[in-house]
Amino acid sequence: MNVKTRWARLADAKEIANLFKKPAIRKYFGKNEYSYRHIKRWIGYYPKMKTVAIVDGRVVGFISLYQYMFNYMTGYEHIGLFDIAVDSRYQGKGVGSSLVKFAIKHFKKKGFKKIEICVEKNNKKAIGFFESLGFKKEGMLRKHHDKDGKFVDDILMGMLL
Ligand SMILES: CC(C)(COP(=O)(O)OP(=O)(O)OC[C@H]1O[C@@H](n2cnc3c(N)ncnc32)[C@H](O)[C@@H]1OP(=O)(O)O)[C@@H](O)C(=O)NCCC(=O)NCCS
Repeated sequence: MNVKTRWARLADAKEIANLFKKPAIRKYFGKNEYSYRHIKRWIGYYPKMKTVAIVDGRVVGFISLYQYMFNYMTGYEHIGLFDIAVDSRYQGKGVGSSLVKFAIKHFKKKGFKKIEICVEKNNKKAIGFFESLGFKKEGMLRKHHDKDGKFVDDILMGMLL
């Protein structure tokens, strides 16, 4: 299977939003996260932070890159973060790893020193996936993610660059 990764364009926003509407993906994100409006706005503001995986001309995966920022706190600017989702019909075929490798390359090129990801404690598949790519478990963050009013525990995973 030929997987191409590239920066997301505004024209991809609808397909990305549709990806996040699929129940297999939706269950890991709150219902307002990655809505069409949200995605379109973020691609517009930060075109080189959102990346898509394309197979046969269609969006089958998405990775959203962020820089760690605690508003006025300094000392964390070297940390990159991301969220990732791959259409379940294309999972297990290397799409997710292509996207993460794209993110690692970008963060390294920009001088970041570390990547952190928060993975829902029960998301064993994603935890195994990130470990296979070299991320290490760093701890548990209790009631860390507000998922539509339900606070869920996350595993913090990290990779030093
Ligand atoms: C996690 C996710 C992004 C992985 O994407 P994917 O395209 O299926 O991943 P890949 O096919 O690239 O898998 C790469 C490696 O992960 C490893 N892996 C995958 N699932 C695994 C599991 N359950 N346990 C251990 N390792 C696993 C495999 O070893 C695979 O390596 P291989 O190709 O050498 O066999 C995808 O399952 C997904 O979108 N899940 C729903 C959303 C989500 O959980 N996002 C993470 C929240 S931050």
